[in-house]
Amino acid sequence: MLNQNEKNAPVRVGIIGLGTVGQGFLRLLLKNQGLIRERLGFPLALGGVCEKNPETLKGLTLPPECVVYREWKEMVLDPRISLVVELVGGLEPARSILLEAMKAGKSVVTANKALLARHGEEIFGAAASHGVDLGFEASVGGGIPILRTLRESLAGDRILRLAGIINGTANYILTRMSREGLEFETVLSEAQRHGYAESDPTYDIDGIDSAHKIAILATMAFGSPVNLQEIPVEGIRQIKPIDLEFGREFGYVLKLLGIAVDHGDSLDIRVHPSFLPENSLLSEVDGVFNAIELSGQALGPLLLYGRGAGGDPTATAVMGDVMECARGVFHGARAQVPALGFPFSGRIRRPLRPISAIFSEYYLRFMAQDQPGTLSYLAGILGDRGISIESVIQKGRDRGGSVPVVVTTHRATESQIRDSLAIIDASHHVTEKTVVIRIEDVSMEGSLS
Ligand SMILES: NC(=O)c1ccc[n+]([C@@H]2O[C@H](COP(=O)([O-])OP(=O)(O)OC[C@H]3O[C@@H](n4cnc5c(N)ncnc54)[C@H](OP(=O)(O)O)[C@@H]3O)[C@@H](O)[C@H]2O)c1
Repeated sequence: MLNQNEKNAPVRVGIIGLGTVGQGFLRLLLKNQGLIRERLGFPLALGGVCEKNPETLKGLTLPPECVVYREWKEMVLDPRISLVVELVGGLEPARSILLEAMKAGKSVVTANKALLARHGEEIFGAAASHGVDLGFEASVGGGIPILRTLRESLAGDRILRLAGIINGTANYILTRMSREGLEFETVLSEAQRHGYAESDPTYDIDGIDSAHKIAILATMAFGSPVNLQEIPVEGIRQIKPIDLEFGREFGYVLKLLGIAVDHGDSLDIRVHPSFLPENSLLSEVDGVFNAIELSGQALGPLLLYGRGAGGDPTATAVMGDVMECARGVFHGARAQVPALGFPFSGRIRRPLRPISAIFSEYYLRFMAQDQPGTLSYLAGILGDRGISIESVIQKGRDRGGSVPVVVTTHRATESQIRDSLAIIDASHHVTEKTVVIRIEDVSMEGSLS
């Protein structure tokens, strides 16, 4: 670990990648330089930048002492740079940047959830073995300080469960579909035109980005490494306005949730669209905002709400980490709290529950043949498999010979539901594959059962 404990010697930070978050960080560093110095008790200087796109660099005003590196390796190996901020995104060269910088004895900060969700073991392991600090607050929830809350504020409590709206693009699309009755494709292309959705929106709308974030959250909350590939993930492409409308009639709002529950001997971690009671806190989180609700055994419920993306909000999370690492550099000591909140060697892997074993209430929309006896057939198949119906709505007539019949159920396992639908969907009583949406219990009573 470098020691820069010379009077007034600034800690020099280097940024690799000056895109949305990198430029936000730059703005914050330059604008709040005085405040940052006051709070740290020593100066934090922009020692260097490295950006692939020369056009981006042309548009920026950099302080005179800032070195512009052509290659990230030059910055990482330059002894004048004490700590490295990786903001290029993606897997490579981001992974190599972090590993090489840590190998060179430098603390690192990243916002890269995709990288941590896939290569977290290697990266957290490297931080532990090289004895450097690793900040990654911005990787989940943008500007929302959820990771520090889990790592430090709730270090002494057991986290029972966690549910979050952790992708702003998906939430924006569902909010507009719900409010305006628009089709998914219409809202998506508008969001792309206005810059709220990427030109390739796959990660956001197919739930992959949320899976990255819930994997990181669950690792921190439960102290167990999480294999990303084992997380059941469903996105929002298949959502239709008709289901949002029926949901409203039952008093529900649809959200794409990342969910993580501690069952003691196993964990339940998943991402999928969920109906929430309209009076729940998470159901009020609209547009691009994010929120994470958790339940601590001693604490009870907690909700953190704020801007989950964007250059400026995300930069505040990056800056908090940079300042923490800079203190370590200045005082020649590592942060007192390990990156994950517990020693790397203290993690205990617990298996993930398969989706077939989860318990939930369900919304089922059948497109039923408009004939006598269909409703009793559907109820019979569900009842034979131990699924009890809570309510039924049948409305409208003649959508090509079929009518929507919507059923909500009491708690059942996913395998009970799948077994029933395998029979129903193969029968002549329905004309389309049944739509299944889980209804989430947001009472935050916790689990460990
Ligand atoms: N945007 C958000 O709101 C947000 C929120 C939370 C977390 N994050 C995370 O923050 C990270 C950065 O996201 P972003 O939105 O700022 O991405 P971005 O706008 O695409 O910026 C990345 C920048 O890095 C540059 N770059 C790529 N490879 C490089 C290399 N080898 N050397 C130097 N520069 C390189 C890119 O240049 P080119 O454009 O020429 O490729 C681009 O300017 C990602 O991990 C993302 O997941 C973003």
